[in-house]
Amino acid sequence: MSYQPRDDRPEDKRARYLELEGEILAVLEGESDRVAQMATVASMLNDAFEHFFWTGFYVVDPAKGDELVVGPYQGTLGCLRIAFGRGVCGTAAAQRKTQIVEDVHAFPGHIACDSRSESEIVVPVFDATGALIAVLDVDATEKAAFDQVDAEALERLMHKVFAA
Ligand code: SME
Repeated sequence: MSYQPRDDRPEDKRARYLELEGEILAVLEGESDRVAQMATVASMLNDAFEHFFWTGFYVVDPAKGDELVVGPYQGTLGCLRIAFGRGVCGTAAAQRKTQIVEDVHAFPGHIACDSRSESEIVVPVFDATGALIAVLDVDATEKAAFDQVDAEALERLMHKVFAA
């Protein structure tokens, strides 16, 4: 079932995330491969929420340490590499903190991969040792599509999939 933001109630969104979390964890049961995990999360998240326009991961490049390289995603062509500190993804990686951007055009240094993107949320992804391994980037075609409910649900999902 696909969730649509128009008939929005925070409790509905929370419930949809919880249901989806169970589905994702069931599919990934016993699977420890990071690419398989990220591809599954990107596909299932993108499918569950109608307004998700670009859903995917930028992975910390182990050879550089301070640069992200694109990982599994659903959506139009994303840029390949983002330095820590650049754009919304690079800021989330550098600060190790979720970024909610209501209007990407007002965000200094936003990297416009697709001009249809209007708002986004970027959540840092940690492994079980607490090391940053990636960021999850979700873009929407409407302004202010993400709030604290999305942040809490996505942070929790990232923890359960990659750190538990
Ligand atoms: N919006 C990102 C760039 C990546 S794409 O949107 C896929 C940013 O500014 O970090």
